[in-house]
Amino acid sequence: MTNIDSVSASDLGSLLEDTFLERVLHFVETDSTNTRAVELLASDESLTTPCLVFAEKQSAGRGRGENRWWSAEGSLTFSLVVDFNQIGFSAQQKPLLPLLAGMAIVQAGESLIPVGDFALKWPNDVYLAGRKLAGVLTEVPSQAAGQAVIGVGLNVNNQFASAPEELKATCIALADRSGMMHDRVEVLRTFLQRFETLMKSFAAGDSFLDDWPRYCLLSGKKVTLRISYDQVTGICRGIDPSGALVLEVDGQTKSFFGGVVLSWE
Ligand code: BTN
Repeated sequence: MTNIDSVSASDLGSLLEDTFLERVLHFVETDSTNTRAVELLASDESLTTPCLVFAEKQSAGRGRGENRWWSAEGSLTFSLVVDFNQIGFSAQQKPLLPLLAGMAIVQAGESLIPVGDFALKWPNDVYLAGRKLAGVLTEVPSQAAGQAVIGVGLNVNNQFASAPEELKATCIALADRSGMMHDRVEVLRTFLQRFETLMKSFAAGDSFLDDWPRYCLLSGKKVTLRISYDQVTGICRGIDPSGALVLEVDGQTKSFFGGVVLSWE
């Protein structure tokens, strides 16, 4: 599987016709689409949204915390800029955005690999066959509190042969599982369409979290969570309606709104 396709501006432009996008920005190369999107919001108060910031190549992709995102050729790296009002969310519901994006990634993946063994790892990872397939980084710029940047890195056709050692054993691309290359714009289109459907049904009172138990990687597992300088270990009892991780710690049920999952077994 070589010959990675490239994505042209006109391929991306077609997304304006059959998805909820109102604007598309295409970079052949940039440092980070999230950084570009946050800057865009800072410089243009009336930015038309939903807006897609897409990069063929990222030189400094960012993950949660201090993590970097390895942006390999053949992967999808993009940021979606949304306005909370427009998508029927309140700013307090921000923790739900990476979860919703994760569910849309799972649905887009399942449309290609129906028996693919997809899983969601709270709060921002998608797994396939026990390995990390995608990550989501959501940011709400302080100067644009009514808007959010949802950055997605999704391994589609990229190969891990040249990846950093620690990723080789823990990550996967859609092509690894299906044995074929996928049209990245089509994967992106399906993701956007699923995202819109989930978002609209959520605004109408149906929560995508009802499906979370089917995919939850952590449920029933002993999870260790780092919160600032503290650590807590408990049995995962799923996600609550606000998007918090529920752990049973010493017989007590507690909800955690943030933190880094250090281990699960
Ligand atoms: C994570 O797993 O920690 C989240 C990774 C998010 C990576 C994506 S790639 C597109 C967007 N731009 C970035 O710099 N990061 C996100």
